Amino acid sequence: MIEPIQGEGGVLPADQAYLEGARALCDAHNALLVFDEVQSGMGRTGKLFAYMNYGVVPDILSSAKSLGGGFPIGAMLTREALARHFSVGVHGTTYGGNPLACAVAEAVVDVVNTSEVLEGVQLRAERFNVRLRGIGERYGVFSQVRGKGLLIGCVLTEAWKGKAGEFFKMAEKHDLMILQAGPDVVRFAPSLVIDNADIDEGLDRFERAVAELTGA
Ligand SMILES: Cc1ncc(COP(=O)(O)O)c(C=O)c1O
Repeated sequence: MIEPIQGEGGVLPADQAYLEGARALCDAHNALLVFDEVQSGMGRTGKLFAYMNYGVVPDILSSAKSLGGGFPIGAMLTREALARHFSVGVHGTTYGGNPLACAVAEAVVDVVNTSEVLEGVQLRAERFNVRLRGIGERYGVFSQVRGKGLLIGCVLTEAWKGKAGEFFKMAEKHDLMILQAGPDVVRFAPSLVIDNADIDEGLDRFERAVAELTGA
């Protein structure tokens, strides 16, 4: 099982050649290629699923989190040839197929899988990246701003390594909720439809937090 973009592991996009190699190995050995897109899926990278950025198609894909837009649901997607083996009742779970959760997920797919939302993710991502790179340079805190779409990881420089938690706490003091992806990466995973004004306000707060933390 591969995350095409590791989330908790540091917002780390896989190399194109790595995913192509995994696909080729699976094909050569008649193995199934499984992508975990719980975090990278459902529009977060500017495509419905992250694998679409690579053109490497898995046999099985897991989806959850934003699939329900906040409502709890998870799903396993497969190629048609595999799906045929999952007839009704073969794979039961207590809440599986919950009608309310499925209705919510269906509505989410209808909203997210539109050019308006997916292209909007890329525009918003650009706004984040430009500003975050600027903050990184001004305060010497980031060696790299990486990720895809609105799954953004700011890799801390050597001097700030291991201190992502301090950025998190300082942001909270400035009334901003951010995330960390391990000790060395500050993570941003905002709403896919966040307003420009909210992006600017959030990043103003973040910059004030970084200024206080670095004593600049
Ligand atoms: C990549 C990835 N896979 C799986 C999970 C777990 O998902 P769930 O809580 O829906 O089982 C997470 C949760 O953070 C995740 O980031």
